[in-house]
Amino acid sequence: MRVVRRLLALPRDLVLFARAMAADPVEAALYIPEQFSWWLHRPVPYEVEEDWGPPVHKILGATWPCPELLSAQALWAEICDCLRSQGLDVGRGSYAGVYSDADPALAAATWCSVRHLQATKVVETGVARGVTTRMVLEAIGDDDNGHLWSVDLPYLFSTNVHDQTAVAVPARLRQRWTYVRGSSRRRLKPLLAKVGPIDLFVHDSLHTVRNMRFEMEAAWAALRPGGVMLIDDVDKSAFRDFSHKHVECERVVCRSGDGPWLFGVVRKPPGALPDL
Ligand SMILES: C[S@@+](CC[C@H](N)C(=O)[O-])C[C@H]1O[C@@H](n2cnc3c(N)ncnc32)[C@H](O)[C@@H]1O
Repeated sequence: MRVVRRLLALPRDLVLFARAMAADPVEAALYIPEQFSWWLHRPVPYEVEEDWGPPVHKILGATWPCPELLSAQALWAEICDCLRSQGLDVGRGSYAGVYSDADPALAAATWCSVRHLQATKVVETGVARGVTTRMVLEAIGDDDNGHLWSVDLPYLFSTNVHDQTAVAVPARLRQRWTYVRGSSRRRLKPLLAKVGPIDLFVHDSLHTVRNMRFEMEAAWAALRPGGVMLIDDVDKSAFRDFSHKHVECERVVCRSGDGPWLFGVVRKPPGALPDL
């Protein structure tokens, strides 16, 4: 059934790809192996924590129940209102019908990670309308040392959604924010080499196994000892393989706050030697 659907969609996909190639040949060419990775890999089983709060706070070395949670939930609701007030749908598949805004659990875990780690250097991949971006920037607050760098390639196959980029991020928060346009394949390593070591990395860009492996390894090398990575949509093998390879890290796979999806959290041991 899956193969038939793919074959039926092929003419439309080829037209979209030809348009992307004309508009941005470098990024379109870089996308080709990602599409094969998307086709190749199926979900793998994980042991899943249904309630993200206690295990993630254990990894963060913070107490549970968490006094930060109410602020995180209130902000997530405010962001949703902000998007809806601009006539935008919120949730799964709401960006170009392909990508999703951060769910309430990932959004709150992002907030809590910044607060409990007292993170000042944060890198994320994947902005779309900017839910995780806003969570990080609000959590950094007016800490003059705090900064977020966001690597983002606006959806290659529909320019109609490009004007939605970061609409959830108000001007008052942008002085501690650097938007780096382009694929993580091109932009992430040079950025990390410039700004690392970092306290927190959030992956929420292209969820192919190939791209997730690449981003996790790059971010891990730039993470300070005790730093944390939040990885959205870990259902395929990239997160499992990373955990097997880096047996020293603490990790957990959690259920999203809006359905069957999964996100993962990894912490580098506080005593680890820095790579950068
Ligand atoms: C899941 S959405 C991000 C959601 C966002 N973090 C939030 O909380 O609302 C994924 C974003 O990553 C972008 N993207 C896709 N491929 C990418 C790549 N290779 N590198 C960087 N960004 C990419 C998409 O265009 C989209 O803006």
